[in-house]
Amino acid sequence: MANQIPEEFIEEIRKSNDIVDIIGEYVQLKKQGRNYFGLCPFHGEKTPSFSVTQEKQIFHCFGCGKGGNVITFMMEMESFSFYEAVKFLADKSGFTLPDTGIKKESSMSEESQSVLSANDWLTKLYHHLIRYTKDGKEGYQYLKDRGIGDEAIDAFQLGFAPNVKDFVAEFLTKKGFHQQLLIKAGILSQQNDNAVTDRFRGRVIFPIRNHIGKTVAFGGRSITNQEPKYLNSPESELFHKGKLLYNFDLAKKHIRKENEVILFEGYMDVISAYQAGVKNVVATLGTSLTEPQAKLLNRYVETVIICYDGDMAGLDATYKAANLLKKVGCSIKVANLDNDMDPDSFIQKNGPEAFKDKVIKASDTYMSFYMRYLKKDFNLNVEGDRIKYIEYVLKELAMIESSIEREYYLKELSNEYHISIETMTSEIHEYRKKRGIPKDNQQKNRYTNKHTISQRSKKLLPAFYNAEKKLISYMLQDSYITDKVQEELGAGFNVDAHKIIATHLYGFYEEGHSSDISLFIERLNDDQLKQQVVEMAMIPELGNISDREINDYIRIIKNESNDSMNIKTLKEQQKLAEQQNDPLKAAQIAMQIIEIQKHLRNTN
Ligand code: CTP
Ligand code: MN
Repeated sequence: MANQIPEEFIEEIRKSNDIVDIIGEYVQLKKQGRNYFGLCPFHGEKTPSFSVTQEKQIFHCFGCGKGGNVITFMMEMESFSFYEAVKFLADKSGFTLPDTGIKKESSMSEESQSVLSANDWLTKLYHHLIRYTKDGKEGYQYLKDRGIGDEAIDAFQLGFAPNVKDFVAEFLTKKGFHQQLLIKAGILSQQNDNAVTDRFRGRVIFPIRNHIGKTVAFGGRSITNQEPKYLNSPESELFHKGKLLYNFDLAKKHIRKENEVILFEGYMDVISAYQAGVKNVVATLGTSLTEPQAKLLNRYVETVIICYDGDMAGLDATYKAANLLKKVGCSIKVANLDNDMDPDSFIQKNGPEAFKDKVIKASDTYMSFYMRYLKKDFNLNVEGDRIKYIEYVLKELAMIESSIEREYYLKELSNEYHISIETMTSEIHEYRKKRGIPKDNQQKNRYTNKHTISQRSKKLLPAFYNAEKKLISYMLQDSYITDKVQEELGAGFNVDAHKIIATHLYGFYEEGHSSDISLFIERLNDDQLKQQVVEMAMIPELGNISDREINDYIRIIKNESNDSMNIKTLKEQQKLAEQQNDPLKAAQIAMQIIEIQKHLRNTN
């Protein structure tokens, strides 16, 4: 399929989508020297070993070995087919894919593709109704009453489903969608008497978009007191509540800019905050935060501000979410709302500025939150309870790495409960000792310190192997070096993969291309080869390489092939001598083999 889209077009797409920008939408990248580093999105890690080079337009993870260009990245990241990845990037940069007339290969089932298309129509229909028609008036009024204006209605594509039996059924079947498909997608519902009707009726509609902005489900809020308060689309191949965060697609760029995300519980919280000018906001969809969601956030930001409802259920959920987020490596802050408030009602009551200053900026640290949260289990007027409470707090405090930070809380405790700081400090040291935490090792910021690349444990590789890799890494960047190597060594590399890569590379330059690693790997069909090329391309350049150095590499490679050739022939002769019952000759040959092996070891 790859070849069916004209190569020039693919090149155009690659050129107009800078790899640092595209990957930057998924991974928080920090520039270090010539490359960018971040946490690998393909495997769990705490120190960044995922690197991207702008110059070469490729990425490579030193941890898990994945690598490629911007198209392969999209394929890996979104499980796109080649076609889908190119289409996605084309759309992003305002190109239209030429109609190749080929069947569009997709990683999604045909059914899901149809549902997406139906959802798309439906989002537009509901939105049109609420904004411009009589049929949507009730919904519009409801949102108005809740303080939601046109701009937010447009940004979130909010809509209204009229209380009519078959408004949508008729609209979508006319467009050629099958009834059964729509029933399965939870757009229509089938009654006991087999009659088929619209499922969302008389509800304000919140389209639920996935992280690339496609509507994968709907949430419908009742505007009367009809139960359930929210009716949602069923889970499907397209829609997994536990993997998706509401508004992630729009929030992404703000999240990265602020290096912070605010996590809510509800749709309305997100929309109100957005209206208040706080746009780095997402929400779970009525379920507890899951590990995939936590990991998703961790890929983008360091700090998550949890801003759940102020009631007891909200506090419990906050505690759980906080621990999960900490586990995956996020820093936590917790917004502090009054008992009867949710973020939306706070904003409606107190206005945007109060929300920013008194809630978001005034967020608690995890420790302060924990100290507050824990109080619910104890009656602090009773001495026994008080002591237990302090013990719990100290246990948690013991987990904090920074002694300065610990001291801050100890002072607070000491003031409040009149216990000496020394007593509590020695208690903390006991806990730390028990848990095997070394004394006050300063925690390192994951980016500000020099990163250590977590290399896959590498065996010591022979010199010829390294020589071949080095040489190819230069060849990838320089057609003159390639010419020289082609002349002197040809396909004489010892490692098969290197032989193949070199041969491809000769062809690539012969076609008149100049060095372009991203394009070059595009043309290799084998994933493993691609990854090897990327790995070699990532070897840091050592400045200009001298002819002597190149000659050295070539010599090492040739020697190895001569020596291996010799050993092979000698081994055959040795076998023959043994067969011919000539132990003396066999022994002499064995000596020769040992000599060569010794030589090999010395040069390697
Ligand atoms: N939710 C749901 N189904 C329900 C109730 C809630 O799916 N019957 C989900 C919705 O995603 C909702 C979130 O849980 O946004 C939080 O619920 P809740 O706090 O009850 O709703 P609010 O977001 O506060 O909605 P509203 O302000 O409209 O009452
Ligand atoms: Mn609410």
